[in-house]
Amino acid sequence: MRSLEEFATAKLGELDRASLHRRLADTTRLDGIWALRNGRRLMSFSCNDYLNLSRHPAVAAAAIAALERHGAGSGASRLVTGNHPLFAELEARLARLKDTQAACVFGSGYLANTGIIPALVGPEDLVLIDELAHACLWAGARLARATVLPFRHSDLAHAQALLETHRPRHERALIATDGVFSMDGDLAPLAALAALAQRYDAWLMSDDAHGIGVVGGGRGSSFAQGVRVDVPLQMGTLSKAIGGYGGYLCASAAVIDLIRNRARTFIYSTGLPPAMVAAAIAALDVIEQEPDYAALPLVKARAFTRHLGLPEAQSPIVPLIVGEAEAALAASRLLEDEGFLVIAIRPPTVPAGTARLRFAFTAQHPDADIARLAHVVRDRVLTNQPPAATAPAYGA
Ligand SMILES: Cc1ncc(COP(=O)(O)O)c(C=O)c1O
Repeated sequence: MRSLEEFATAKLGELDRASLHRRLADTTRLDGIWALRNGRRLMSFSCNDYLNLSRHPAVAAAAIAALERHGAGSGASRLVTGNHPLFAELEARLARLKDTQAACVFGSGYLANTGIIPALVGPEDLVLIDELAHACLWAGARLARATVLPFRHSDLAHAQALLETHRPRHERALIATDGVFSMDGDLAPLAALAALAQRYDAWLMSDDAHGIGVVGGGRGSSFAQGVRVDVPLQMGTLSKAIGGYGGYLCASAAVIDLIRNRARTFIYSTGLPPAMVAAAIAALDVIEQEPDYAALPLVKARAFTRHLGLPEAQSPIVPLIVGEAEAALAASRLLEDEGFLVIAIRPPTVPAGTARLRFAFTAQHPDADIARLAHVVRDRVLTNQPPAATAPAYGA
């Protein structure tokens, strides 16, 4: 048997040779759009804090007040003594936003997905999943030990063909998709998937991690086309546009009751700290009271795609597919030289051969900087030209 050290070293060598060895970089977020990294102040286009609410004064004040009143941690699972009173308020607010009967807050989005799916389906059942769905939807599907069949990205005909063949052999079926795809920024065809789910008696589940707060008037991807699509399982996270941490599911009262009784990541994990719950409530206040502000990340992303002649952004996320991991890293370094922080996204986060720059736009990115970023991308990344002699020095 090989030693643990040998195993780890050999694996890391493989990752190095493929330009896939990831390393943590100290990053101090200075405010909504600035980050301090490698000793430089960079304008970040890699943060999911789309509404810059993590530092919003009302959000921070709510978190501080909750921390002082209820303490730093919740102290136990919510089913034991961890269910501080702020949870009920947040769950009511989420259910109202998503127009469902009820909601359940989890410790994180990852915990939500890995708890919800195995609570609803098991070895006798079928999970159809978009091939580009987030890793934690996949993890939930695998944990359920169901038959898991991927369908080609947003390909309704493929999903239908799989249902036609496989649905009759399974007792229950669930269709899982991102609402806004995390690495591509496109929207799932939720209305058509809902119709398909209805036809084949399957349950549709959307992961709206990147939709809540910023698409569909802040209500998320189920509302993106101006009408409410009936998605019975609307999951999401509080860690992106909401600016804090935590996950949730919005669904019917019966489903939420069942989840609280069956989802292992809910039952056997400590309740979210009070400060995070209070912060999320305050963030929802901002989103509901300032719809024009909540619309800004998409406006900014669209300005960027217009500058570059890319397909119009559907969400605050814009990918620029570069191909190989090494090329994506080089493009990211080049942008860093120009004062922009745009992280290269590599396999296994995205499929092999589709390494990319992933631009995330926030409400507070100035238009002039978006124009300059687009200019640099067009002149330097897309053509791979040598550095300009006089690059403006952000963060000098
Ligand atoms: C689509 C999607 N789902 C779920 C998650 C996990 O959420 P969390 O960070 O709250 O665990 C993320 C990101 O992290 C995501 O992008």
